[in-house]
Amino acid sequence: LPSHITIRDGHLHIGSHDCVTLTAKYGTPLYVTSEDRICEHFTAYQSALSRRYAKVQVLFAAKANGNLAVMRALARLGAGADVFSSGELALALEAGMPASKLLFNGSSKTPADLALAVKHGVKVSLDSLDELHQLDAIAANAGKVAEISFRVNPALEVPTHPKIATGLATSKFGIPHEQIPAAYKEALACKNVKPVGIHCHIGSQILDVVPFARAAEVMVRIAKEISDIGVKLEFLDLGGGLGIPYHHDTDPAPTPEDYAAAVMPVFLEGIEKAGITPSLWVEPGRFLVADSTVLLTRVNSTKAAHKRFANVDAGFNLLIRPAMYDSYHEIIVANRADAPHTTEYTITGPICETGDILAADRKLPELAAGDLIAVLDAGAYGYAMSSQYNGRPRCPEILIHGKEETLMRRPETLADLTSAMVHPPWQR
Ligand code: LLP
Repeated sequence: LPSHITIRDGHLHIGSHDCVTLTAKYGTPLYVTSEDRICEHFTAYQSALSRRYAKVQVLFAAKANGNLAVMRALARLGAGADVFSSGELALALEAGMPASKLLFNGSSKTPADLALAVKHGVKVSLDSLDELHQLDAIAANAGKVAEISFRVNPALEVPTHPKIATGLATSKFGIPHEQIPAAYKEALACKNVKPVGIHCHIGSQILDVVPFARAAEVMVRIAKEISDIGVKLEFLDLGGGLGIPYHHDTDPAPTPEDYAAAVMPVFLEGIEKAGITPSLWVEPGRFLVADSTVLLTRVNSTKAAHKRFANVDAGFNLLIRPAMYDSYHEIIVANRADAPHTTEYTITGPICETGDILAADRKLPELAAGDLIAVLDAGAYGYAMSSQYNGRPRCPEILIHGKEETLMRRPETLADLTSAMVHPPWQR
């Protein structure tokens, strides 16, 4: 178990907080997040890199967890953000992240997205030449110069789920690496765009640090080529992607230190050869927030069919990763956490779909209605990917910090299901 998750008197604790007590107060389902754990990870990431090179900026990938309280905690430690939409841009600013520490990524931005970035002076990572010329026109219109990077597609195979490998030659993201120098030439010729960075992101949930070093190799090589044609690189952004050990006992658990040890020699040698000193930017999402959070869900009923099912009150409406990527999340029976594991269960949610399974074939204590199930490592792409599918208002999110605890998102109500809907006049 990660150090902030413990079992005491048979109850699962997160920090000093008993999950059974928290659910007695707030009900289930319930997302519980440790701010302290997030801060610990951020600090580890930041210091592993900045010990080796002074100019480092960690950008939190806001898509992983868009709660303002989480983003504010990171902002206070100096984090910037990788934002992928106008909404994430607004969240990052509201969380107190300065525009200078934001990068507006995205493979399909609207003119309104580009205009918002220009308005706030946020750097834009461009995904096509079409987008370059659109941005140039929008910035000209606003009487401004937009700072940009291009997202490089480095054509690298990475060991992860195919849906989250993003830097394959066949991925939709970025500009093929061999076309990158020409793209910068074209940007240099644009009056209202100034190329200041270079960006890539090779994929997510990567448990081997070697691919990151490979990506760094490609990036410093290109950084030299484009510096030689007159681009003054202020930052080189290697993206996010460091994975976490969802299988606690068997997965490798690379640390930011391992990441830095693999990447930094390549980066440092490369920029020295190129004669440049750009800031190093990285964009971790999952690593910073995933293990900070448990999703607590109550057993509504059990049954012995072709196998044993435990039907709980959270499904893929609240955590879609198992259904979408066949992801594994550790399960702990939070109210009887030290009972012997005697019986195999499949933990199923309340959604009207066969695929609504949180965990398949897990050896657990014998379960009964009322038991409390904790789904671990739910802090990244958990609530962030939730929905109201099947007419289910979303559950609350709790933030804990030391001995304190607070609601960081209220539960949705039935009224929230209809609040954005419009009654067609001819139906009145
Ligand atoms: N930067 C860019 C440009 C990205 O596209 C992503 C993630 C990140 C950074 C952060 O990657 P991380 O450090 O979190 O691996 N929903 C999927 C993950 C999708 C990741 C998409 N891009 C999941 O639940 O596994």
